[in-house]
Amino acid sequence: MAGGEGPRKGDGAGGRFARRRARHRSTMELEAHATRERTGEAEPSAMLDIRDLHIHFPTDDGLVKAVDGMSFTLERGRTLGIVGESGSGKSVTSLGILGLYHRGNAQISGKIYLDGEDIVAADQARVRELRGSKMAMIFQDPLSSLHPYYTVGNQIAEAYLIHNKVSRKAARAHAVDLLKRVGIPQAASRVDDYPHQFSGGMRQRAMIAMALSCDPELLIADEPTTALDVTVQAQILDLISDLQQEYGSAVIMITHDLGVVAELADDILVMYAGSTAAVRTPSPIPGTRTRGGSSAPCRGSTGPAWSGCCPSAVPRPA
Ligand SMILES: Nc1ncnc2c1ncn2[C@@H]1O[C@H](COP(=O)(O)OP(=O)(O)O)[C@@H](O)[C@H]1O
Ligand SMILES: [Mg+2]
Repeated sequence: MAGGEGPRKGDGAGGRFARRRARHRSTMELEAHATRERTGEAEPSAMLDIRDLHIHFPTDDGLVKAVDGMSFTLERGRTLGIVGESGSGKSVTSLGILGLYHRGNAQISGKIYLDGEDIVAADQARVRELRGSKMAMIFQDPLSSLHPYYTVGNQIAEAYLIHNKVSRKAARAHAVDLLKRVGIPQAASRVDDYPHQFSGGMRQRAMIAMALSCDPELLIADEPTTALDVTVQAQILDLISDLQQEYGSAVIMITHDLGVVAELADDILVMYAGSTAAVRTPSPIPGTRTRGGSSAPCRGSTGPAWSGCCPSAVPRPA
């Protein structure tokens, strides 16, 4: 853990530093509210409200405009499917929502309101608090996201330990519970296995358990089944859908598989070249089940017309 972030002597979770941070946060929220009143900008009401988000990376080849004017909202308990070609900015958008880009490693502008609090303007300590406790992510490739040196149980328990005042024993019991919940057989003994001792499907389940460890209100799944074979894919998608209904979380499901979004999503956002090309409600795709999706036509289109393939985000040489 980076220096200065751990608990300090005489400073419990409800201690001096937590109180100072809370005071700082409410001052920032008041300032943000005053700015919105001054500029006539609408107050955020949805759980997640993204407004004109830009995430640009300065590189030796020029400015890469990975996300270039994204706006959308997501309500609690709903599933938003994000589809789009490779390189259209889906992963950068989701990492931006998690607050993993900041002014040190990217040029970021716009607003990402999570329950009214702007993640772009928040300080890193606050974003770290929100990550894990309020929002979590299931990554595409569990093998590169799980640390090979630590047991699966330790990695699931870690976030729970950091965000809750519990003993190591209680955190371990929580990890066993979560492994059971995501369908790992003999969870009480498998909790001490290392990631390489799990199969691909089990690793993805362990990642889901890790993401759920603090009961997040927003869950982002970035192509969670791409690395899995078809049967395991179906099980993992059913699992995410069941857990969402149980926990009532909002879910962003990023995929290039239209069958998946037709089955799972309440709304579909199509990304193209870093921005929103269209927002739709899912229409049934033959051979797939739908979860109450209507076949309403496109509700709005703000982006460029389809040109067949996604232009590179990297500028062309002059
Ligand atoms: N850290 C970075 N520095 C420079 N360019 C990046 C960085 N991260 C992503 N990109 C570029 O941003 C664009 C969008 O990437 P990404 O969001 O990963 O696409 P995808 O829609 O396939 O998930 C790509 O052109 C990618 O090369
Ligand atoms: Mg991606």
